[in-house]
Amino acid sequence: MLPLTPVVTLCIISYVIYKFILYPAFISPLSKIPNAHPSSPFSSLWILIKRFTHQENRTIHAAHVKHGDIVRLGPNEISVNCVDDGIRTIYSGGFEKWPWYDQFDNFGVPCMFSTAESKPHSYRRRVIANVYSKSYLQSSPEMHKISQTIIFSRLLPVLESAVTNQEPVEVLGLSHAIAMDFVTAFMFGLQNGSNFTQDVSARRQFLIPYQRRRSYFWSGELPSLKSIVKNFIPVIEPKYVQEATSYIENWTLTLTKAAEKSSTTKLSDEENVATTAPIVYNQVHQSTLKNPFPYPQELQIATELQDHLAAGHETSGITLCYLFHELSLHPELQTQLRKEFLTLSPTLDFPPSTSPPELPSPQSLDALPILQACLMETLRIHAAIPGPEPRITPSKPTSLAGSPPLPPGVRVSSQPYTLHRRADVFPDPQAWKPERWLEASEEQRAEMGRWFWAFGSGGRMCIGSNFAMQGTIPSLDV
Ligand code: HEM
Ligand SMILES: *[C@@H]1O[C@H](CO)[C@@H](O)[C@H](O)[C@H]1NC(C)=O
Ligand SMILES: *[C@@H]1O[C@H](CO)[C@@H](O)[C@H](O)[C@H]1NC(C)=O
Ligand SMILES: *[C@@H]1O[C@H](CO)[C@@H](O)[C@H](O)[C@H]1NC(C)=O
Ligand SMILES: *[C@@H]1O[C@H](CO)[C@@H](O)[C@H](O)[C@H]1NC(C)=O
Repeated sequence: MLPLTPVVTLCIISYVIYKFILYPAFISPLSKIPNAHPSSPFSSLWILIKRFTHQENRTIHAAHVKHGDIVRLGPNEISVNCVDDGIRTIYSGGFEKWPWYDQFDNFGVPCMFSTAESKPHSYRRRVIANVYSKSYLQSSPEMHKISQTIIFSRLLPVLESAVTNQEPVEVLGLSHAIAMDFVTAFMFGLQNGSNFTQDVSARRQFLIPYQRRRSYFWSGELPSLKSIVKNFIPVIEPKYVQEATSYIENWTLTLTKAAEKSSTTKLSDEENVATTAPIVYNQVHQSTLKNPFPYPQELQIATELQDHLAAGHETSGITLCYLFHELSLHPELQTQLRKEFLTLSPTLDFPPSTSPPELPSPQSLDALPILQACLMETLRIHAAIPGPEPRITPSKPTSLAGSPPLPPGVRVSSQPYTLHRRADVFPDPQAWKPERWLEASEEQRAEMGRWFWAFGSGGRMCIGSNFAMQGTIPSLDV
């Protein structure tokens, strides 16, 4: 037996050297991809530390600037930032999601966004997408009433009073509030949606726990480690995060039950309280009727609605806030925008120029080039989701950005932060310049549209892009 031991030891050592050093660094198809860091072929520690310290987006961007459209981040992870052989293949080609998205389950139940596999995802999406289509939104009487109420009875009075009293406005909070009011009214009905634009204490009561519960690192990157150690190391999931989660889930569930009630009773407009049908609730409810999923129906509806209110208010609030910020730095654009708004009919005056107050049509807002350019430029340079959207390579070996065919199971992401900073497509990329969208030739504009990725692309593209933008978005889906 004895002489065998050195042989066995030698075999084990050789295997370890092959598997963890030779194969990843020299033989794996990923070895032909430039390394973002010298340790990338051997370990994910470097990128994990960047993630933990909130430097992921800019670190990946710097690696692309240095090495080109494709870089290797870890032994089994790459980042790709180009259109052809890049986002077109990965996202429009239907690569499934990396389980990083499990962290977006609510109530322990997956929603459309957090579902990794294409089949159960498209089952839900087919039914829900209808009410978020541009044609539905532009002709929906509910959407019309919601917009009228929020703009004339909530937002404009708040701004008017701030101006009259020379009081400052807390712009990020107000932006989140406007977005929450729109999204929740469309989901639960105007009578049961939030009124955060006006009710500042209710706004804080919701937004403070909402923002405290974020803990993307552990639940996204190391979920199994997290579930083992969170009981011993409380900082990984502090008690206040658990409490905030229960608070938000209860908040959603209460409104889901209220929407269920109004979907079965006839609504009437009582004393100034405008009511609308709970549009998204009804649609999501329908998507759970022929039910292939092993979760209680009410929780399937609630997890979906909580995801839409999260996806809808955070992103839109951040975007609006950056828009106000940039406009505050560019008074000449404020003047141009005001001039453009005065061409609307009716104009957006306060007090309203008509009684009852009437809004200009969504189509006429679509046709305002300066407004559209300001929004596109804000979404380009301040994309609300700037970082990686991880997918997994499929069973059929596929090459990306000039790489050799990649095996299945590789984590691959693209990120708006980098796609939106191509100097050959967006000259002077760091500058907020709405004029670039106005002065571009037809051809340049099409090229800018191909690289514009604030809402993602393909089958998992943002379902709420038309809701967020009542406007023309040039060729969003590549
Ligand atoms: C400026 C506003 C918005 C931005 C920048 C934005 C961005 C995005 C992006 C990039 C994705 C894809 C994410 C990924 O694959 O990792 C996404 C998905 C999604 N968004 Fe948005 N979004 C916005 C507004 C909204 C609104 C208003 C709603 C709902 C009312 C919404 C609901 C969703 C949903 C449900 C998904 C998942 C779609 C699916 O998995 O099929 N978003 N969004
Ligand atoms: C929902 O709206 C109805 C009708 O206005 C109201 O009676 C009910 O209390 C509301 N429920 C919640 C939870 O806001
Ligand atoms: C909520 O909004 C309505 C208009 O939709 C407004 O009249 C009312 O005063 C607001 N309520 C609170 C508590 O701010
Ligand atoms: C859930 O929310 C409702 C209404 O917002 C509240 O009355 C109730 O006390 C909450 N329940 C828990 C367990 O927090
Ligand atoms: C990086 O991107 C993610 C989303 O894609 C975002 O949540 C995060 O705040 C970004 N980090 C920084 C430091 O900007």
